[in-house]
Amino acid sequence: MTDLASFPLDFPAFHPGHVWLVGAGPGDPGLLTLLALHALRSADVVVYDALVDPRIVALARPGAALEHAGKRGGKPSPSQPDISRRLVELAREGKRVLRLKGGDPFVFGRGAEEAEVLVEAGVLFRVVPGITAGVGGLAYAGIPATARDANSAIAFVTGHDADGAVPDTLDWPALARSVPVLVVYMALTHLDEIARRLIAAGRRPDEPAALLSKATTPAQKVVVAPLAAIAEAARGVEPPAMLVVGDVVTYRDRLDWLAAQGELS
Ligand SMILES: C[S@@+](CC[C@H](N)C(=O)[O-])C[C@H]1O[C@@H](n2cnc3c(N)ncnc32)[C@H](O)[C@@H]1O
Repeated sequence: MTDLASFPLDFPAFHPGHVWLVGAGPGDPGLLTLLALHALRSADVVVYDALVDPRIVALARPGAALEHAGKRGGKPSPSQPDISRRLVELAREGKRVLRLKGGDPFVFGRGAEEAEVLVEAGVLFRVVPGITAGVGGLAYAGIPATARDANSAIAFVTGHDADGAVPDTLDWPALARSVPVLVVYMALTHLDEIARRLIAAGRRPDEPAALLSKATTPAQKVVVAPLAAIAEAARGVEPPAMLVVGDVVTYRDRLDWLAAQGELS
């Protein structure tokens, strides 16, 4: 086990009664920040989401309580207010509470909602950013988020809203017109419709697209196809998955470093 005491760094103290909202990154435990590892080695209780890789949860201090905040054993997932209430409860018991979330806690992770409940309850907290899947996942697929010859802007978009539908609050025509690279989180359920909307809004049907599944884990799978064909090509691919649309996808032909090393991609 890594001995953090050997790092010549001053880590902030994780005080009893405080909550740390920590990003666990997209999967590969090597993508954890040192602060996240410090939190795992210090926390009394770890409340973790379904998306957090089990190898990361296993880094928790021996003896720390582990609470799964996702769907488990056929039981329904706790609601967001239930999770926030639980964080307050544990903090009030004087525990060092680590709230561990996939990727970055403030990117499509509902971390802001949890932080607001902590503020209202007067519980002190720290946010530890994580590598979001839209950055780490692309890198592991050999797709640069930006490349000088391809794009000077990128947008992170959610593929479904609170009701599970493709968000109507998004101005798809404006996005399609003005952002050369779109990274759509939670894209799998409505992949067909998202591709259709983008094409209807002016994106080329033959524009390069990729679906990244379980990125940065040993089960990573990347499907590349023209935008008009991506939904069909990605049939059967498992979540979590994200869609990337734009010319940066073509860099993968040259930059798929995982495949070059004989590792999965
Ligand atoms: C609720 S959002 C959480 C995002 C997370 N907070 C982040 O910053 O990456 C879940 C979505 O993130 C994306 N995602 C997270 N981890 C992923 C991974 N390892 N591979 C592909 N997509 C992933 C998927 O689109 C998934 O549906």
